[in-house]
Amino acid sequence: MKEKLESIKSSALYSIEQAKDLKALEELRIKYSGKKGELTTFLREMKNLSKEQRPIIGQLANETRELIEDKIKHTKIILEKKQEDKKLLDEIIDITLPGKAVAQGKLHPLEQTLEQLCDIFIGMGYEIISGKEVETAYYNFDALNLGPTHPARDEQDTFYITEDLVLRTATSPVQVHTMENQPLPIRMIAPGKVYRSDEVDATHSPVFHQLEGLVVDKDITFGDLKGVLAEFAKQFFGDKVEVKFRPHYFPFTEPSAEVDVTCVMCQGEGCSVCKGEGFIEILGCGMVHPKVLEMAGIDPNVYQGFAFGMGLERLTMLKYNINDLRLFYENDIRFLSQF
Ligand code: DAH
Repeated sequence: MKEKLESIKSSALYSIEQAKDLKALEELRIKYSGKKGELTTFLREMKNLSKEQRPIIGQLANETRELIEDKIKHTKIILEKKQEDKKLLDEIIDITLPGKAVAQGKLHPLEQTLEQLCDIFIGMGYEIISGKEVETAYYNFDALNLGPTHPARDEQDTFYITEDLVLRTATSPVQVHTMENQPLPIRMIAPGKVYRSDEVDATHSPVFHQLEGLVVDKDITFGDLKGVLAEFAKQFFGDKVEVKFRPHYFPFTEPSAEVDVTCVMCQGEGCSVCKGEGFIEILGCGMVHPKVLEMAGIDPNVYQGFAFGMGLERLTMLKYNINDLRLFYENDIRFLSQF
C-alpha cells in the first residue's frame, strides 16, 4: 500500500507540474482526487487495512492528498496568470498605426480673392451690396450712358432673355440701383457673376466675376479715387507694387482711367506677359459721369462720385501667376489644392 501511495504521489506531482493549461490541470484533478480518482479510490480501499496499518497509511494518505491539492491550487494560479497574459497579448491593438486622413476642403481661389477684396474695402468703410444677374436693358446699358446706338448693345455682346431683359454684362448696373435706392452718401462694393457671349479660351469665359465699387458724396475728387485704388492695390498685391493711372474711355465715367500695377511676372522689368511694358492693367475706373448721376436722380452740381470695376479671375490669375482662366472652372483637385 505504501508503495502504491508513493507511486500515486510522484506521478501526480510530476504530471501536475507538466500541465500545459487549465483544462489539462482540471483533467488531472479529476484523475487523482475526483470521485473516481486514483487517490479517492485508494482512500476508499483503506477500510481493508489492518487496525495497526490503518492510522499509519491513513496519515500518509492525508499528507499526500494535501500535497496534491496544494500543488493543484498553486499550479492553477500560475496557469491562470499565463492564460491572462496570453489573452492580453492576443488582444493587443497597435495604436501607433496612423489613422485614415480625412481630406480637408478649402475655399476656391476665386472665393479667396473675393473674401480678401471684401476685407480690404470693408476696412475702408465700404458696404457690400448684392445685385441681380438679370437686368433690364435700361439698367445694363441706358442708365450707364450707353445709348440705344452704342456698339456694346449689339446682341452679339450679351445674352438676351427677352427683347428687354439681359444677363448683365458687368456689375455696373448695381451702381444705378444703389444710387436710386440708397440714402446718400454711398460707399459700396458689389461683387457678382457677369455674362458675355464670348468664346471660351485662356482669358475669356461667358460667365465670370466682377467687383464693382461706387462712392457718391459731396466734394469727391479724382484724388480720392486714386488714394483708394492705390491703397487697394498695395493691400492686394503687396507693398512693393507700383500703381499707374492711364487715361481711358468708359461711357459712364468722365474722366476715366485704367489702373496698371507693376507686372507680377517680371517685377517691372518687361516680359512677354506685360508685352515689355512692365505694367499690367487690373481695373477700370473714373469719376461718375454727371449724366449717370442725373439719370439716377442725383444732382451732379451737389454730389460727385467715383466708380471702379475689376475682374476677379484676372486679379487672381495675376496674383498667383495662373496662365489659363479655364482652370478655375474645371474642378481639378490638383489645381485647387495649391491655394
Ligand atoms: N464695367 C466695366 C467693364 O465691365 C468695368 C468698369 C470700368 C466699371 C470703369 C466701373 C468703371 O465702375 O468706373 O469692363
